[in-house]
Amino acid sequence: MNLVERLYEEHNGINAKIERLYNAVETLKDSNVDILKKLFEELKREILIHLREEEELLFPELVKKMGTSATSLQLILKEHEEIKNLLKEINNLILEGNKPKIFSAVHSLNNKLEDHLKKENNLLYSIAHEFIDPETLKEKSRLAVKIRQSTNI
Ligand SMILES: [Fe+2]
Ligand SMILES: [Fe+2]
Repeated sequence: MNLVERLYEEHNGINAKIERLYNAVETLKDSNVDILKKLFEELKREILIHLREEEELLFPELVKKMGTSATSLQLILKEHEEIKNLLKEINNLILEGNKPKIFSAVHSLNNKLEDHLKKENNLLYSIAHEFIDPETLKEKSRLAVKIRQSTNI
């Protein structure tokens, strides 16, 4: 599996996890706040590892090919920051136990992720497949496994 294939599969995992969290938030009662915390922690870890893999392994290769001025890459990086900020916000809201705000923030995260992952699947990953040579993508995939193993979130 090369890096782009790995990242694409991780999108499916992230989608499954946000859906589980979204359903848990919709039916949230006091008794299952712990379940919500657990689902959120799993989603947060998966997203943060995925963003690290993209930022440290994929994007530098794209910059080599396309230069830093590539507007799509700037936009994608801006969205990464927005996603990280939303994760921090949800983390705090869960600690506070503020249900209406948790609901609205998870809703925002869900929408943002849906849009972001689609953009990458349809645009950025196709460009990566076209411009980065297969050997580099395979080597980067091995490095992605190391990032996953060493990330302590
Ligand atoms: Fe991304
Ligand atoms: Fe992604």
